[in-house]
Amino acid sequence: MKPLLITIDGPAGAGKTTVSKALARCLGYRYVDTGALYRGVALAAKEKGVAPEDDDGLERLCTGLRLRFVVNEDGSRLFDGDRDISGLIRTSEISMLASAVSARPVVRKFLFDLQRRLGEEKNAVFEGRDMGTVVFPEAEVKFFLDASVEERARRRYDERSADETRTLEQIAEEIRTRDHNDRTRSHAPLKPANDAILLDSTAISIDQVVQSMLSRIKQVD
Ligand code: C5P
Repeated sequence: MKPLLITIDGPAGAGKTTVSKALARCLGYRYVDTGALYRGVALAAKEKGVAPEDDDGLERLCTGLRLRFVVNEDGSRLFDGDRDISGLIRTSEISMLASAVSARPVVRKFLFDLQRRLGEEKNAVFEGRDMGTVVFPEAEVKFFLDASVEERARRRYDERSADETRTLEQIAEEIRTRDHNDRTRSHAPLKPANDAILLDSTAISIDQVVQSMLSRIKQVD
């Protein structure tokens, strides 16, 4: 099979992470979670006290960041320099802050360059919001994975950690807010690329989504 770049975009909770990892495993490809990079910027902004509206502060912050993925026995981990920040970026506070900083062009520009470098070798599945539209418009295969808000919230609720205190309705509300932010921002809003294959996982299993993607990928090759 020739080296391919595969992109999977879609809203929060549509199953992109599970699907992207499964697809990458089946194909022997790298898996790159670009949402983690936005979360990494959000974590740094929180720790350094930089407000999401402070573009100069965000620019300085980004210049000092050393974000990189390290694949080890725990999977793909996000490091800032020597510090493993994978656990710290998975809170509800960081989700909302990531959504806020991701609307700032200065942050998008910084991560655009980083993502392009990560994609140079191809043989990768990139998951995010603007992979097929902005970062890799030349990707050989593009998917847009969606599901109803109710189904996405239910999945997040079923997978909640032991210390999660939010109700199903509160999780649904966070998803609605992030969807709204991501779809209506002026820079790289969440939307399918014109040549993306649209899939809806509301009524089908993740396994069926992966099988359907694999058959579409075989057609491209
Ligand atoms: O995918 P995840 O939910 O971890 O992403 C966190 C936030 O990062 C999203 O709500 C979105 O605002 C932002 N993001 C983005 N572009 C991407 C990936 C994520 O704007 N390619």
